[in-house]
Amino acid sequence: MRVLGIETSCDETGIAVFDDEQGLLSHALYSQVKLHADYGGVVPELASRDHVRKIVPLIKQALKDANSTVDDIDGIAFTKGPGLIGALLVGACVGRSLAYSWGKPAIGVHHMEGHLLAPMLEDDAPAFPFLALLVSGGHSMLVKVDGIGQYEVLGESVDDAAGEAFDKTAKLMGLDYPGGPRLAKLASKGVEAGYKFPRPMTDKPGLNFSFSGLKTFTANTIAAEPDDEQTRANIARAFEEAVVDTLAIKCKRALKQTGYNRLVVAGGVSANSRLRENLAEMMQQLNGEVFYPRGEFCTDNGAMIAYAGLQRLKAGQTENLEVQGQPRWPLDTLEAV
Ligand code: KG4
Ligand code: ZN
Repeated sequence: MRVLGIETSCDETGIAVFDDEQGLLSHALYSQVKLHADYGGVVPELASRDHVRKIVPLIKQALKDANSTVDDIDGIAFTKGPGLIGALLVGACVGRSLAYSWGKPAIGVHHMEGHLLAPMLEDDAPAFPFLALLVSGGHSMLVKVDGIGQYEVLGESVDDAAGEAFDKTAKLMGLDYPGGPRLAKLASKGVEAGYKFPRPMTDKPGLNFSFSGLKTFTANTIAAEPDDEQTRANIARAFEEAVVDTLAIKCKRALKQTGYNRLVVAGGVSANSRLRENLAEMMQQLNGEVFYPRGEFCTDNGAMIAYAGLQRLKAGQTENLEVQGQPRWPLDTLEAV
């Protein structure tokens, strides 16, 4: 089975062709970063319009790169939610309509299920069951994963998502959008300077996260310190360590609770080197294994949507003829495969 995947939930247009025998045949990505940079964040209406401009040329490119024609495609998967409704509707409209006109089945995919399954695109894919730490711009959650669609959310952020905390903190440090990777770059130049950043919600039981206080703590630290590049880098490092440490503590707790020894880390923040190193070390100590997507599939992409969609289409699940987006969509309401 060969599936065309379409991702348009936020500020990246991602298209891919995935074949269950031959693997990933092509993927094409257009990032709107430059478009939104002047505004310091994603402007939903501009995002939708840019998806409209880019989606068809990217589909043509992905099909060509995959050496595929319409006849070779067995189904179309598109991100149905969660995300920005206007952006989602572009992918849903094109995906649903193309599938109808080509006479193929369509499936609407949950964006976070896409992230969660992204490590399956790698040669050393994890076996079920595992614990997943999903850390993106819109979500932070710990999920007990027993199979495709068998998800139990054990904990999530009660305020800002991890990526959002990176982005907002980067903004108040004067860094341009998208702040996460920029803050990480600045932090890499920082040295241990004795800052005592909190590890929010680690002193009480439970697996929820809260990151908005860290942002305020960073703002207060910046205000109290000299305004030079090295001090900024040291503060960025202390902030990053606090986020990473907090995520690691909660992962360890969830692994203990579930008894699982495989950890999957996915979503935009899983591209963060400090997080990857820290969790790799922790899993080594715990005699477990950690799995990440390759760098380019940590952030939004079409490959993860094509992969997730294929699993569902193969199991006979399909979308009706309605064009639908679902901006809010709890992960644990998905149908098992
Ligand atoms: O998964 P994603 O591409 O989009 C959403 O589904 O939200 O995640 C984007 C988020 C942004 O908040 C971005 O700043 C963050 O991931 N991010 C990073 C890094 N790369 C991307 N955060 C920290 N360190 C990074 N290296
Ligand atoms: Zn995402």
